[in-house]
Amino acid sequence: MAKMYLTRREVFSASHRLWNQELSDEQNFELYDKCANPNGHGHNFILEITVAGNVKGESGFAVDFKKLKHLVRTEIIEKVDHKHLNYDVDFLKGTIPTAENIVRAFWHVLESKNSEAKLYSIRLHETENNMVEYRGEE
Ligand code: NI
Repeated sequence: MAKMYLTRREVFSASHRLWNQELSDEQNFELYDKCANPNGHGHNFILEITVAGNVKGESGFAVDFKKLKHLVRTEIIEKVDHKHLNYDVDFLKGTIPTAENIVRAFWHVLESKNSEAKLYSIRLHETENNMVEYRGEE
């Protein structure tokens, strides 16, 4: 079987604040530093969703990029773009919106949507130099 890995890239802008309610103010500022600023801060996030599939003889596609784009746009991008991740996004409620927690929440959203494509990895670039990749639970 010709197994292929296809990646859809999207960008979104969002704000967040890193803060753990169970810690003191001092502990939070010690842990998160500027990321704990009371009114939050923004990022231009780059999201890369990689799915895996076998090439089908009829179409020559492993995965239809049109469908993948639609899924990522409707389930993720429309819900997070220009939003405050601590307050505005249902599937992030109750989590500290670190890149790690965001990427895991995205995974669960996409996995539950029964797409034709099998999720392989999700990468979230938070800054030019920091990127988190998740490939599901081991
Ligand atoms: Ni940040």
